[in-house]
Amino acid sequence: MIIRAAVPGDASTLVPLILQAIGSIAFVLTGTTDPEEVASILTDFFGREQNRISYENALVLEEDGELVGLVMFYDGAGARALDVPLERAAARKSGRSDYRIPTEPETSEFYLDTLSVSPGHQGKGFGSKLVEAACDRARRLGHHRIALLVESDAPGPKRLYERLGFHVDYTKRIAGQEYFHMVRWL
Ligand SMILES: CC(C)(COP(=O)(O)OP(=O)(O)OC[C@H]1O[C@@H](n2cnc3c(N)ncnc32)[C@H](O)[C@@H]1OP(=O)(O)O)[C@@H](O)C(=O)NCCC(=O)NCCS
Repeated sequence: MIIRAAVPGDASTLVPLILQAIGSIAFVLTGTTDPEEVASILTDFFGREQNRISYENALVLEEDGELVGLVMFYDGAGARALDVPLERAAARKSGRSDYRIPTEPETSEFYLDTLSVSPGHQGKGFGSKLVEAACDRARRLGHHRIALLVESDAPGPKRLYERLGFHVDYTKRIAGQEYFHMVRWL
């Protein structure tokens, strides 16, 4: 098992994993609910720099040469700027010039945006290792706190984060879904 930085060529393998984790947020990020369009837009953005879905924000986990997990994270201070390229494309796609992607993190926090492990490899500790890798990166960048949002009706992932030292500090609603905001001191 190795954890390494993602590269643009990982896009087609990783986008299904991203979709598995972010659910309907993918529609918000792309401005469409057409599954093929969603996948193609996310694949395109994954291969580019300086946007929320970029390979630059991802670490991947390989098991026996196969990509089976990823974690995506970034500094909340830059979150709005990372959403803008997606927002512009979504505005064009949806035909709504006032299209807005709600900013998820607080500006003061390092933000764990996406965690996903392929179904055949869940329950082997890979998700936990990816969270720890994100925490290590945050620490090395000088952050003292890492945060994430988890769907309030997803007890499995919430339990995983609690075991890793996160706790809920408030709830937040995005695009009609309620989330727990969870934090961990580093
Ligand atoms: C959440 C996820 C990344 C965990 O990855 P993983 O490699 O299975 O995690 P680990 O093996 O390190 O830990 C397993 C723990 O995950 C938690 N868990 C996550 N999803 C679960 C589920 N559907 N059912 C039961 N437990 C789940 C449990 O705490 C479990 O530990 P336990 O069985 O001792 O209670 C993975 O299940 C996944 O990709 N799920 C779909 C995407 C998703 O929900 N992402 C999180 C969005 S916030």
